Amino acid sequence: MVPNERPNTSTSTVLAEQVMEAVHSSTSLYRHGLGMIASENIISPMVRQAVNSDLHGRYAEGLPGRRYYQGCEDFDTVESIGIELAKEVFDAPFVNLQSISGTVSNIGVLKAFAKPGDNITAVSTADGGHISHARMGAVGVRDLKLTTYPWNEELMEPDIDGSLNLIREVEPKLALFGQSVFLFPTPLKELADAAHEVGATVMYDGAHVLGLIAGGVFQDPLREGADVMTGSSHKTFPGPQGGFVIGSSEDPAVHRKLNNAVFPGVCSSYHLHHVAGKVVALAEFKAHGHSYARDIVRNAQAFAGAMAAEGFDVLAEGRGYTASHQVLTRHGQLDSGAGATAALLLEKAGIITNMNMLPGDTKALKPSGLRLGVQEITRVGMGVNEMHEVAKLYARVLIHHEDPRSVKKDVQHLKDCFQTVQYCFDAGNNDAYPKTV
Ligand SMILES: Cc1ncc(COP(=O)(O)O)c(C=O)c1O
Repeated sequence: MVPNERPNTSTSTVLAEQVMEAVHSSTSLYRHGLGMIASENIISPMVRQAVNSDLHGRYAEGLPGRRYYQGCEDFDTVESIGIELAKEVFDAPFVNLQSISGTVSNIGVLKAFAKPGDNITAVSTADGGHISHARMGAVGVRDLKLTTYPWNEELMEPDIDGSLNLIREVEPKLALFGQSVFLFPTPLKELADAAHEVGATVMYDGAHVLGLIAGGVFQDPLREGADVMTGSSHKTFPGPQGGFVIGSSEDPAVHRKLNNAVFPGVCSSYHLHHVAGKVVALAEFKAHGHSYARDIVRNAQAFAGAMAAEGFDVLAEGRGYTASHQVLTRHGQLDSGAGATAALLLEKAGIITNMNMLPGDTKALKPSGLRLGVQEITRVGMGVNEMHEVAKLYARVLIHHEDPRSVKKDVQHLKDCFQTVQYCFDAGNNDAYPKTV
């Protein structure tokens, strides 16, 4: 715009209104539909209040009591309570709450424990590793040399003997474990010793399964050999978007290294409103997290069994399908794109999912699979009975080829009864999908 030119306020108002309309429409999609993307969740009313507070525009670089800005006394209270709560919830001697996402946590830890040119080992993206574990993501940002573990497709975990050999051969500076497609615990006890023997730092990316770990129903990485665990604060851990860095060492020098990796390493302002939301979510998790985690896994197993009974090809039958919040289904041939088609049809029926590569697929945009998560529908109170109903809705769309628009009515009918956030303060007495705060 030319200086002093009068802005066209009517156009900008229209644009802002259009944006708000889309925001409300997106809320309504989830109010009436089934949110089943495995990386997502909804927040509680109290977390929502924290996220919408004045803190959203404030700065507090540094740590509680040691800030570069004034005005942080109250926020110091928030973050100090949060650090202590997080240590309790994750049963860890060190937690940093400042990272603004799981990816940012990963970049910070890679910065702390490896330097450009170092070797790193991780699960490949084709086998379910996250993009931040790959050269196209954080591993490339740090210019690390990546070698990926061999994968056991039947068990859906790194092949133990092959990975042991690989670690001994490559002698990585950092051995990274954990995936985005995460059905079963990593055999960490078996692999961490070998990594330590060659001098590697053992890093576990628990982005997806952090709530299950804190809830005591998945695995216990810090006691199975992980030196550091990263994660998102908004997946099975049901807080606002953000990240955690969690360490098993009692050594203050390691704590300093990890704190510095986040600030000034990868964050300046670290979104104080989200930190406040994380702290409220930690308090709620302390009170309700164990039941939530237990119910997620119970529902995922019920849903997987019901999907198989409806005729779907559900992966990992031999291991009981899943031990996490995720269920994987195969649709058609490898690289056929049938997973993408299935996700589009489900969306028309009000069921929101994502296509996913399965072992053997090579094309990210033409995968044969769907990755489904039950953490959000569990959080609004659905139980085992509803998992069977949901599987029937999937079958009507994808197996019986019913018009998705007619299925959508029944999706909405089912969802009408599940409109409040559970496992939080004020459980059941709230609106899970408010238009405004
Ligand atoms: C294993 C893993 N790590 C990291 C991330 C990134 O988390 P965020 O979206 O919080 O950056 C994801 C995202 O789904 C993930 O699956």
